[in-house]
Amino acid sequence: MPFDRSLKIAPSILSADFADFGREIAAVEAQGADWIHVDVMDGHFVPNLTFGPPLVKAIRKHITTVMDVHLMIAPVDPYIDAFADAGADILTAHVEAGPHIHRTLQAIRGAGMKAGVALNPGTPAAAVEPLLELIDLVCVMTVNPGFGGQSFIGACVTKVADLRSMIGDRPVHIEIDGGVDPKTAPLVAAAGADVLVAGSAVFRGGSVGDPAPYGANIRAIRESVRAG
Ligand code: DX5
Ligand code: ZN
Repeated sequence: MPFDRSLKIAPSILSADFADFGREIAAVEAQGADWIHVDVMDGHFVPNLTFGPPLVKAIRKHITTVMDVHLMIAPVDPYIDAFADAGADILTAHVEAGPHIHRTLQAIRGAGMKAGVALNPGTPAAAVEPLLELIDLVCVMTVNPGFGGQSFIGACVTKVADLRSMIGDRPVHIEIDGGVDPKTAPLVAAAGADVLVAGSAVFRGGSVGDPAPYGANIRAIRESVRAG
């Protein structure tokens, strides 16, 4: 997985048909997804439950791009090996999820995955500064995590710009997660983001039987960034 800072759209399967993940993933990849974003929630760190390592492992074989796994769970450390075994390419943990994020990130890399750290909207960019040499990705949450379809929190855009200058030339992706659509995507891309997660804005209007809207939605986000 060579590093590059070009724009990547990562559809979140949180907005897909949960009974048909295999075909949903094939459909969004065929329609232009760059990565597949997989949201793991525990009903404790966030007020919602999704799925765990066995499901992630089962969908892995349907993903031909990058499996980007976003853990909204606490604790993280007991599950790192299970997500490595499930085939995660990138494993992202929240900085708020426990007292030893440094150890968690080392363990993720030690298990052979790229390491990401996610920040809730209430957490400042400075939380990442001590972690810059340990991460491959920082995920800036632009909604409070737990649900798809929430409104983008505009105050987070300055955090993206702060992180972009903090990261400098380091090979660290800046990912945006929450409320990304053709209106908000240009704001975060201009501030320095290169990975845009989008759930409802990609899956709306389409289905596995009629996947063309997925492609139109992905292109609309790309075009909005190009038009700036
Ligand atoms: C929210 C999840 C997101 C979610 C984004 O807690 O981490 O990945 O799927 O959904 P949208 O794009 O609909 O805001
Ligand atoms: Zn997510």
